[in-house]
Amino acid sequence: MSTLRLGDKAPNFDAETSEGKINFYDYLGKSWGVLFSHPADYTPVCTTELGTAAKYMKEFEKRNVKVLALSVDGLESHKNWIKDINETQNTTVNFPIIADEDRKVAELYDMIHPNADENLTVRSVYIIDPEKIIKLMITYPASTGRNFDELLRVIDSLQLTSGYKVATPANWKNGEDVVISTSISNEEAKTLFPKGFKEVKPYLRLTPQPGN
Ligand code: BEZ
Repeated sequence: MSTLRLGDKAPNFDAETSEGKINFYDYLGKSWGVLFSHPADYTPVCTTELGTAAKYMKEFEKRNVKVLALSVDGLESHKNWIKDINETQNTTVNFPIIADEDRKVAELYDMIHPNADENLTVRSVYIIDPEKIIKLMITYPASTGRNFDELLRVIDSLQLTSGYKVATPANWKNGEDVVISTSISNEEAKTLFPKGFKEVKPYLRLTPQPGN
C-alpha cells in the first residue's frame, strides 16, 4: 500500500475493464481524469452513482475530463450489472469500470480502508491533471453516495486556479467572484485582473472570475 498525497504523481497501471484492457496513462492522454472507486456491484447507492456519472458525461467532456470507475468485483459481474444500471437509471454507462479482483489498483490508490471494510473499496475520488499530478482526493463511506455537482465544481476550481493566480472561496460556483492569491501585490493585481478588484482586507481581495 502506498500513501498518496496531493501533488504526487498518480501511479500508472494496466487494468482489465468493462471496455477492455487499458493503460491508465494512455487512457487519460492529455485529459484531466477522475478515478473513483465504489464498494461493490449490484448495490443500490453504487447503482445510482454510476448512472449519475454516465448522465454527467457531457459535462465531464466539456471540461476535458476522462472518467474511470473501479470496484474489486470481476468483469462478468461488471458487464451484467451495467445492464441493470442502464435500465434502472435510464442511461448508458459510457466509461470503463475496472475489474480489480486482485485489488492491485485499489491497493496502489489506498482505496481499501480496513477499519471501514476489510474487503471492499470505500468511495475514493482522485482528480488528476493532464501532467498526471493528483490535484484532489476525497473519501466517502459506503453509506454516502457522492455529489457529482460537487465534483464538477471542484474541477472548475482546479482548472481555473491552474491558469490564474486566484483561489475560489467557500461554496464558489463557476462564474462567481474569486479571491486573488495572497502572493500577488495590489500593483500586480491591477495588471493581472483588468476588471478590477475589491479589497475587503489586505489578504481578502475579490475579483470577477478571469477568463469569463
Ligand atoms: C451501496 O452502494 O448501496 C452500498 C455498498 C456497500 C455497502 C453499503 C451500501
